[in-house]
Amino acid sequence: MKLAARAGRILPSPTLGITATAKAMAAQGLDVIDFASGEPDFDTPEPVKAAAEAAIRAGFTKYTASSGIDELKSAIVDKFQTEQGLQYEKSQVLVSCGAKHTLYNLAQALFDAGDEVLIPSPFWVSYRDQVLLNDATPVLVETSEDSGYAVTRALLEAHLTSRSKAIIVNSPSNPTGATYDRATLEVIADIALRHDLVVISDEIYEKILYDGAQHISIATLSPEIAARTVVVNGVSKAYAMTGWRIGYAAGPKPLITAMADIQSQSTSNPTSISQKAAVAALRGGDVFPRQMVVEFDRRRRLMVERLNKMPGVSCRMPAGAFYAFPNIAGLFQRRHGQTPIDTPAAVATYLLKDAQIAVVPGEPFGSASHIRLSYATGMEAIARGMDRMEAALKKLTS
Ligand SMILES: Cc1ncc(COP(=O)(O)O)c(C=O)c1O
Repeated sequence: MKLAARAGRILPSPTLGITATAKAMAAQGLDVIDFASGEPDFDTPEPVKAAAEAAIRAGFTKYTASSGIDELKSAIVDKFQTEQGLQYEKSQVLVSCGAKHTLYNLAQALFDAGDEVLIPSPFWVSYRDQVLLNDATPVLVETSEDSGYAVTRALLEAHLTSRSKAIIVNSPSNPTGATYDRATLEVIADIALRHDLVVISDEIYEKILYDGAQHISIATLSPEIAARTVVVNGVSKAYAMTGWRIGYAAGPKPLITAMADIQSQSTSNPTSISQKAAVAALRGGDVFPRQMVVEFDRRRRLMVERLNKMPGVSCRMPAGAFYAFPNIAGLFQRRHGQTPIDTPAAVATYLLKDAQIAVVPGEPFGSASHIRLSYATGMEAIARGMDRMEAALKKLTS
């Protein structure tokens, strides 16, 4: 059977793949510590579960409007208004089956063959593959660890062509944990305005920020930039609701309408019950995410401190999200027996086999020098995992 060419352009999600391997090893009775999953280990808040139960009991179990229920769109409109001062009509909001699906609808509605999409690198794995799936060309804009992964005017301008169509902004970033300050966002906005780019602002980690940092959405910089920005967000990370699959977008009406039409011909509505649960999450305010962030902060410090004491490893303190992204290039001269440990993938494989800890290699995020570890797991697991990792790295010979 001959498959469509687009199927050959992409790889299955590496993070989901490694998590599945770790789970399979655990099912065989191995004590695997999972630093690969990109999801909070907290349980979904009780009021959210109660709203879902009430929805089931009330028989709210049928198709809904394909683009999402009015009640949830209102909660989203209110969230943008109260938290960011951004004003949207409900017709400018689309609710989808997770932010990944939101981004996919967006890619389908926006990209044509030949279009170029600027993606600051390192980047979240699905951006590149979703662009490829929609026949467009990802243009990776390499940022440097030394600069804190800063995106500069010079860097962006060096990658612009007449085919540039959009730029993806992801602050706080998965995998680096870096955030963009106002000055950086202003540069991006200025370039977007001058070069007629659509800004895709993935703000899924907006509430997971440390050291008192405040989230800034690029859409808040001016009405002109808001008019060409699609803000993407969801409840997965902020409310520990990864399994419920609710993401959303707000942006220019023609683009949102096109995305909604595509959704109406593919998945139809996101789950009715999850939509009611998402209303409870968004109306519940920030108490839950704030508590979670206090705990993530302790874990962040522990993990980064431990990583920095390991031979051949150095790790920046992430400013947001829940990932450490240590540089492990210092290990590349070493070996395990006859096996050279000379790439992030080799390090990840060695750690999974020898130390039974699951981490994600940097290659699919666009880095040949890093691995990604999630600290959205308990302090005890982090302490034990770091002990194992340190012991495993000390066994490597030069
Ligand atoms: C940067 C980023 N965007 C979007 C998503 C998708 O989130 P979801 O589809 O669970 O809403 C993720 C999940 O890992 C992410 O890390």
